[in-house]
Amino acid sequence: MRDIESLGDLTGRKVLVRSDFNVPLKDGKITDDGRIRAALPTLKALVDAKAKVVVMAHLGRPKGQVNPEFSLAPVATRLGELLGQDVVLAKDTVGEDAKKQAASLIDGQVLLLENVRFDGRENSKDDAEREALAKEYAQLAEFFVSDGFGVVHRKQASVYDIAKLLPSAAGFLVVKEIESLRRATDNPERPYGVILGGSKVSDKLGVIENLLEKADFLAIGGGMAYTFLAAKGYEVGNSLLETEQIETVKGYMEKADERGVDLLLPVDTVVAPEFSADSPATLVDCDQMPSGQMGLDIGPKTAELFGA
Ligand code: 3PG
Repeated sequence: MRDIESLGDLTGRKVLVRSDFNVPLKDGKITDDGRIRAALPTLKALVDAKAKVVVMAHLGRPKGQVNPEFSLAPVATRLGELLGQDVVLAKDTVGEDAKKQAASLIDGQVLLLENVRFDGRENSKDDAEREALAKEYAQLAEFFVSDGFGVVHRKQASVYDIAKLLPSAAGFLVVKEIESLRRATDNPERPYGVILGGSKVSDKLGVIENLLEKADFLAIGGGMAYTFLAAKGYEVGNSLLETEQIETVKGYMEKADERGVDLLLPVDTVVAPEFSADSPATLVDCDQMPSGQMGLDIGPKTAELFGA
């Protein structure tokens, strides 16, 4: 894997960085800036190297429409605070303002482009559309650094297509995460247990398949646990559910059985009528979930089972 050092002396050179700034917002305020902090080592290194830094990122899924609700403005402000220097936010992604701001960057300055998903070509299924957008990104810089670990698996213009157009390297976050994954998967110590979370089974098919070959136990938490519970035939109410993955999940359960992998699922869960801070939450066993409620978290029996 090529890292930033492989790009050579970056003084005065324009570097396009893909970060993942998909942060949670409430009333326009960032409620967890972890992903912005995770991007700092790469961005600080580029600033220190006196590069001209152009950052691309997405926030939410605005479906190719410019929508102020998904603007990266709060991120630009927070990133500026954390970097200790102003971060300019372009009014668009590859439009006149982005071009103008990128052209007037000084050494060590950081420009954040507006949400890449304001342009429908970013995650188009049509290769030519994505490639056309990637060419426009490429005009903004001389090098590309991939550092949006949470989005690095997506075939999108600012992640996948751009890397074919500019000399590219992995940022520190991506290098760090890949190294942790490598340590955990190549020759792991036994017993080898993995706790998996996240909302989408569909994003983790390859990971689960791979772990079923290697792990001694696999504990499934997060939103995707409800698809596993549904595959066991349980009522999951309004919980997050990927109906189209139920058959795949059943296959995983059979495979785990055949291979002697202990597949641990939640046994109790916190439920509430809706996902909101003032919705009345109760604790139920997973085989007793009420139909009108949604599962929001594991309960204490599950935490003990998972050894959390
Ligand atoms: C995430 O939050 O999982 C990443 O930022 C990717 O977002 P996406 O699932 O909308 O592509």
